[in-house]
Amino acid sequence: MRVVAVGGGPAGLYAAILLKKADPRHDILVLERNRLDDTFGFGVVFSEATQENLEQADPETFVAMARRSARWDDIDIHYNGNVLRSTGHGFSGLSRRAMLDILADRATALGVKIEIGTDVQDPTPYLDADLVLAADGANSALRDRFTHAFGPSIDWRPNRFVWLGTTRPFPAFTFYFKSDVHGLWRVHAYQYEQGHSTFIVEAREETWRAACMDKATEDETIRFCEELFAEELEGHRLEPNRSIWRSFGTVKAAHWHHKNIVLLGDAAHTAHFSVGSGTKLAMEDAIVLTRSLGQHRDLHDALRAYEAERRPVVESLQRAAQVSLEYFENTERYMQLEPVQFAFNLLTRSLRITHDNLKVRDPRFVESVDRWFAGGAAHAAGMREPPLPSPPPLFTPFRLRELLLENRVVVSPMCQYSAEDGTPNDWHLVHLGARAIGGAGLVFTEMTDVTREGRISPGCTGMYKAEHVEAWKRIVDFVHQASRAKIGLQLGHAGRKAATKKMWEGDNEPLDSGTWPIMGASPIPYYPHSQVPRQMTRADMTGVRDAFARAARMGNDAGFDILELHFAHGYLLASFISPLTNKREDEYGGTLERRMRFPLEVFNAVRNAWPVAKPISVRISAVDWAPGGLESADAVQVARAFKERGCDIIDVSAGQTVADQAPVYGRLFQTPFADRIRYDAGIPVMTVGNISSFTDVNTILAAGRADLCVLARAHLYDPYWTRHAAYALGWSVDWPDQYESLDRYKPRFT
Ligand SMILES: Cc1cc2nc3c(=O)[nH]c(=O)nc-3n(C[C@H](O)[C@H](O)[C@H](O)COP(=O)(O)OP(=O)(O)OC[C@H]3O[C@@H](n4cnc5c(N)ncnc54)[C@H](O)[C@@H]3O)c2cc1C
Ligand SMILES: Cc1cc2nc3c(=O)[nH]c(=O)nc-3n(C[C@H](O)[C@H](O)[C@H](O)COP(=O)(O)O)c2cc1C
Repeated sequence: MRVVAVGGGPAGLYAAILLKKADPRHDILVLERNRLDDTFGFGVVFSEATQENLEQADPETFVAMARRSARWDDIDIHYNGNVLRSTGHGFSGLSRRAMLDILADRATALGVKIEIGTDVQDPTPYLDADLVLAADGANSALRDRFTHAFGPSIDWRPNRFVWLGTTRPFPAFTFYFKSDVHGLWRVHAYQYEQGHSTFIVEAREETWRAACMDKATEDETIRFCEELFAEELEGHRLEPNRSIWRSFGTVKAAHWHHKNIVLLGDAAHTAHFSVGSGTKLAMEDAIVLTRSLGQHRDLHDALRAYEAERRPVVESLQRAAQVSLEYFENTERYMQLEPVQFAFNLLTRSLRITHDNLKVRDPRFVESVDRWFAGGAAHAAGMREPPLPSPPPLFTPFRLRELLLENRVVVSPMCQYSAEDGTPNDWHLVHLGARAIGGAGLVFTEMTDVTREGRISPGCTGMYKAEHVEAWKRIVDFVHQASRAKIGLQLGHAGRKAATKKMWEGDNEPLDSGTWPIMGASPIPYYPHSQVPRQMTRADMTGVRDAFARAARMGNDAGFDILELHFAHGYLLASFISPLTNKREDEYGGTLERRMRFPLEVFNAVRNAWPVAKPISVRISAVDWAPGGLESADAVQVARAFKERGCDIIDVSAGQTVADQAPVYGRLFQTPFADRIRYDAGIPVMTVGNISSFTDVNTILAAGRADLCVLARAHLYDPYWTRHAAYALGWSVDWPDQYESLDRYKPRFT
């Protein structure tokens, strides 16, 4: 096979090596425009897991690289005058120049031809090769030449960074967070060979401009950074290497192969340098491509197999990298944290390191986090001392007004479609009762509607007639008597999403029979075939407001501990907040402030009707996942407005506003919105959405991303989720007297 690789970076050279090794008859040519020692940057970092892959793929290269690598286990975090060290991380670093030398030598020894100084602007002369590797980096000209086929996109991020070197031998992977008059500067520094370290300086665009770095030459950049970090550099100089300030671009491509051309490495995908994996991804691409070519006779089958295997791995890492880069874009937000929490938050930012696996790497550090967290939680809850040993964060108490929750797990509101004319029955008693006995700190009812017309479906529960109070009281009393859980009432009105079928008969689908007239902020149907809601008049608004206040009083009579107003998911009040569903031209439509008027009026009426000692939560959709809809910055404003009026906690959900939403799902996918609201609006938050592991809950809490974790489907699957968490985490939760014999029982799950 005749192979041409455009680009002699890690992707092109390593693929050339592996292909030549796989079959020495291959004729392989690598075209590189620059001299190999003319490379940008200084060092690259590999984790221990990456090294195992490399060792298997080509032991010779691996050994040569290992010989030149510096190794370290520690991460040092310099923050507000403190140095926090976490250990057990297992990295190695290597000079990029040394790595390219090693790769080029190995490739040449195997018989690969490397042509230096060839800048491939027009690939036509090379396209008759059997296989063309587009390994020409993030700005790949070859990829862009076939834009229609590859469908590339680059998301340019707002922060600016410069890649510098220094002779200061950092003993650990080191982060500095240092403020000057211009703003906050972040440094990522590590030693990659004896006496040489990478020193990447990063800042927000406004900080960078304020320091005039947008106009700085390379020399001026060096001078500025040397002065700013004089103390940290301990007398060592900074060294440039084509050190221009850049923005990071996240590269993605819809397709990675076209005819006989295949994208590898940065040409196909980039991952922010703070997860240190670009080189690893490039080299692993080469490994999988070589294996796929060996396994498939047909070139296109091989390229398809390569993309099918690599894409999910790369996309998962890009998701982690995205969370990590957003952390560095928003670090200012976290500068108020206590040092130990700041460090934990930083270490767990990309979700790849959790409370659990950090405990394996560095048990002492996690113990200190848990101790600190438990102390703060006990203090805030009005308790004297936390128990010893410290509970996992999940099992710490949380107070809102007079409501004291025993732990941080919440059963999310979940419609059961099992009521008749709004009256809850034995199903609801068993459903909510079981979950309360299951150990959660707080159990929410499903969305319970303040009027008959406000029900999502004929099976939804309500709080609009006297018998509802009695029926709910039976459930509330059971929860209070049989468990230590508290119980909350979620109140709502379905608005334009009312009069629809039960979920299992057609989610959000209009009723075939027995329907009723519906209303909304504006006369826009949910689906084109849905019923068109009536635009609410002022009289309708007064009626709804009063119905909410009445339902709140009834909820208090039933004994509920907390109220949650459902102002999310496109239901009535959410339909006022979102610009996609509120097109009103009166004082209740237009700007966010005007769209919030009616929801705030309802909130005020409910706050006045609900006892001062009891808290209120508002569930919002932080984003609409649709163009022109709510964005997370709007959600901060929304949260602030409720906070100012006496809301105690925001339950941060997202979406379900419009039928053509395009959510980005994933593990904990809505937690970043909760995190943002918690700091930017300064109000406690609950986070919900694809949370299912105990360790994720501990991580979210200890990192300060939310105050409570809300789980829905995990609780449908396992009503005893919290008890299982206790067992797994070595904690104990009291059993009801009836189950006391379990104290001497040891479960076996496998
Ligand atoms: C600040 C910063 C820090 C980083 N830190 C790390 C880290 O710690 N660990 C890590 O793993 N990764 C890191 N990376 C990422 C890493 O550098 C890249 O992901 C990796 O180099 C990708 O390899 P590649 O071969 O795909 O592309 P590149 O390394 O970019 O190589 C592409 C090659 O193609 C050549 N080329 C381009 N166009 C042409 C053309 N038209 N004709 C001929 N030749 C051409 C270029 O000269 C270059 O040599 C970092 C990146 C940045 C920006
Ligand atoms: C069966 C079911 C019913 C739901 N009903 C409600 C509801 O009544 N009110 C509400 O705010 N959210 C409702 N939701 C959304 C959940 O509360 C939660 O936000 C969502 O399922 C994401 O959490 P999860 O990933 O833990 O399941 C419902 C979800 C499910 C699965």
